[in-house]
Amino acid sequence: MCGIIGYIGKRNAVPVLLYGLQRLEYRGYDSAGIAVVDNENGKILIEKQVGKIKDLQEHLWGRNINGHLGLGHTRWATHGSPTVENAHPHISQGGKFAIVHNGIIENYMELKKYLQEKGYKFKSETDTEVIAHLLEDEYNGNLLDTALKVAKKLEGAYAVGIISTEEPDKIIAIKKGSPLIIGLGKEENFIASDIPAVLEYTKDFIVLEDGEVALITEDNVEVYNLEGQKVQKKPLHVTWDVSVAEKGGYKHFMQKEIHEQPRTIGDTLAGFSSSKNEELFDMLKDINRLYIIACGTSFHAGLVGKFWIEKFARIPVEVDYASEYRYRDRIIDEKTAVLGISQSGETADTRFALLDAKKEGAKTIGLVNVVGSSLSRESDYVLYTYCGPEIGVAATKTFTAQLVTLLLFALEAGLKRETISKEEYDKIHEALLHIPSKVEEILKKDDEIKDIAYKYMNATDFLFLGRNINYPIALEGALKLKEISYIHAEGYPAGEMKHGPIALIDEKLPVVSVIPKDRFYEKMFSNVQEVKARKGKVISVATQDDEKIKELSEDVIYIPQTEDILYPILTVIPLQMLSYHIATLLGKDVDQPRNLAKTVTVE
Ligand code: F6R
Repeated sequence: MCGIIGYIGKRNAVPVLLYGLQRLEYRGYDSAGIAVVDNENGKILIEKQVGKIKDLQEHLWGRNINGHLGLGHTRWATHGSPTVENAHPHISQGGKFAIVHNGIIENYMELKKYLQEKGYKFKSETDTEVIAHLLEDEYNGNLLDTALKVAKKLEGAYAVGIISTEEPDKIIAIKKGSPLIIGLGKEENFIASDIPAVLEYTKDFIVLEDGEVALITEDNVEVYNLEGQKVQKKPLHVTWDVSVAEKGGYKHFMQKEIHEQPRTIGDTLAGFSSSKNEELFDMLKDINRLYIIACGTSFHAGLVGKFWIEKFARIPVEVDYASEYRYRDRIIDEKTAVLGISQSGETADTRFALLDAKKEGAKTIGLVNVVGSSLSRESDYVLYTYCGPEIGVAATKTFTAQLVTLLLFALEAGLKRETISKEEYDKIHEALLHIPSKVEEILKKDDEIKDIAYKYMNATDFLFLGRNINYPIALEGALKLKEISYIHAEGYPAGEMKHGPIALIDEKLPVVSVIPKDRFYEKMFSNVQEVKARKGKVISVATQDDEKIKELSEDVIYIPQTEDILYPILTVIPLQMLSYHIATLLGKDVDQPRNLAKTVTVE
């Protein structure tokens, strides 16, 4: 939901900003721009372009812009359509202050009216432009002081970067609600919406908390609260290699991330065991209700998690979309825990729903991928997936890592609550250790799955069916397909078909059935027969050696055998691959699908 980058140091800021914007492009890609303080005349020069970062790069091609201080922005439109005028950076009327912003200024109408009455002319339809004019209006010879005053006037969620010709040796960064980190270099410093944007230059970071304002010069960083008091910050060192943010020979980040899953599942298994949070599992001993809240793919992981937690830990679980949970009359007491699942840890719906529940007395747990993200800091307890950055907008490797973490969570809680035996725990744990090599086997079927994708790529609708613990996988398969290929798809519990949706089936409808050899096999088989009887084209994801399923299916994608309850971690892989291939065969931009952004920091 918009990406911010800023640079101060000895290099020319322009290539640093463009490189950073490329890394941040997954956060928004409808328009982009940069602002630099020109080395020659000390004025702020702004260049913006509608489209992707490559359009901005082409626009700047051959231009000799030099500046040691600058800001960049890639936009996902909220207020105002994607036009050059609405693209960031925005500049104040007198041309002395340039700003970039990620988030929403909720009281911008009121501020705009106030500024217009004072004679400020607005060039854009954005909520952001008020910040630039307010800075000019309030400027008192001290940029930090002015930024603090302005920040107090802003309502909503935002991360803001500010530069000024009046004090061209500083960047000011303000964070409230949207993510912002400071990259610490040698005689240079950076700001960015997330770590991969500046990983090329540094592995040391300061993660800003809500209500913090940073004063950044070439060789110093000071952080203040909104009252202007200094805050001591402990830098974070990351060990990631730059390659985590590169495609490494794959055509798309999504493809790379699908193929990374044997490693990311293994790393998550190892990471969970080495950082086991005893206090969390002690707390779970006394819990009698768990709410899981999340959005999109993370929500589907939560639906699978419910089966495991209820089975092994015997805690009643409700799973809700965070955007719905926030506004319902939930029941919370001291024995209630709320688990928020979010890859980014920045999704506004999930964060705010969790914070509300926390205020009402719930114990809160965050399951996140991004280290240092808002949700990880706002939750009482944190669980991590160990995937490294996920750049493709469609979540893949983080979904399977969320599943693994939820299963381990359920098993550990079960042991603590004495609702499973050590033998059962060990049996499942042992089976889990074999999952990475089984995923590896599925990934070898890439060509086969591409051929199937080719057969069905022109369908206008798809149906995905599953039962029990594989029903959320049907939902996830449908979400993957629709978000990257723009083909209409729906996931259904197979047993529910006869209550209405079966009317949709005809010879043109591909129906993907998730039918592993588990205890629901026969029931699922009957449901698929019902589809076949109505001439639906069945594509089955089935367990190897299942010859019987061939009778009903046009195509079968086989997966290795595992324990019944582990199947979701395997059945989802062919569905990710099928969507990827359909979308790429259709020529869609799988890493940056239209209208989407990787991190959704607005409600
Ligand atoms: C789907 C997808 C989205 C996210 C959702 C939540 O592929 O990526 O549906 O899962 O926006 O994002 P996080 O997990 O960052 O809270």
